[in-house]
Amino acid sequence: MAVTLVTGGAGGLGSDVVRALLAHGRAPRILTHRADAVAPDGAELARGDLRTGEGLEAALRDAATIIHCASDAREPDFATEIEGARRLTRLAKAAGAVHLVYVSIVGVDRGDYPYYAAKRQAERIIEAGETPWTILRATQFHGLVYGLLRSWDDGSARLTVPSGMRFQSVARHEVAARLIALAEATPSGYALPMRGPETLTIGEMAQAYLAALGRAASVETAPAEGAPSSPFRTGVNLVPEDTPATRGRETWAGFLRGKASDQRPGAV
Ligand SMILES: NC(=O)c1ccc[n+]([C@@H]2O[C@H](COP(=O)([O-])OP(=O)(O)OC[C@H]3O[C@@H](n4cnc5c(N)ncnc54)[C@H](OP(=O)(O)O)[C@@H]3O)[C@@H](O)[C@H]2O)c1
Repeated sequence: MAVTLVTGGAGGLGSDVVRALLAHGRAPRILTHRADAVAPDGAELARGDLRTGEGLEAALRDAATIIHCASDAREPDFATEIEGARRLTRLAKAAGAVHLVYVSIVGVDRGDYPYYAAKRQAERIIEAGETPWTILRATQFHGLVYGLLRSWDDGSARLTVPSGMRFQSVARHEVAARLIALAEATPSGYALPMRGPETLTIGEMAQAYLAALGRAASVETAPAEGAPSSPFRTGVNLVPEDTPATRGRETWAGFLRGKASDQRPGAV
């Protein structure tokens, strides 16, 4: 039976893809390189490593569609991204796959941030491969910005954030839904980029974050230390306003409301 393989299906975006596929009555196969991963009911688990190639051939057996969400931004050589794309395109062709869908990031073709350069290289490998492909470039997920704010928040009366950062953050589950829609359509090359509904400064996002937590703290901006070429500061992470894009609907405030209700005592 034809299989949809979700690489990184136990990770953040990938688990949203798997959940949505299951909700649509599909039986996805999850590629994970963790020994302790557990598949949700209805999904199948395949252990394999995009960095080394171990287990990939078996993972791709009968895979008609591959939704490629696995990535490791912390690797110095980005082998999971680059070698992983090479291995996947080669094995996908051998397995007779008809569609490879890759999630990339808005701005990987602009600027020289190392992780972005690696994702651009992976895009080029997939473009040159023989398996029909679709690439979706998305902006940062709301959860990524939330994680940054959490890391800067020491619980005091002042939240200091680096100046100059802007985001068009998007709900991860909406990106997952878009990936599935693309995967189920004809391979289309570069899809319209996907962004969130707003463009906000990190200061504005920090204010809303504090308000959602019911905190009276003030927000201050300060020049960022190090990483002057961060795409979040140069603006390459943004879809220019005059560029057609698919827009997610969930706002930053909506995401924060969801977070707050998740954290109610006893909430599931
Ligand atoms: N986060 C964002 O804001 C954002 C925005 C736009 C695009 N994206 C893109 O979306 C994709 C998913 O991002 P995410 O935030 O969901 O990342 P994530 O939570 O870190 O998930 C990535 C998954 O990749 C898997 N992985 C890592 N190394 C692997 C290897 N060597 N072999 C096989 N699997 C490996 C890991 O799963 P196991 O440990 O189970 O193997 C991990 O859970 C990435 O391509 C990212 O560039 C992210």
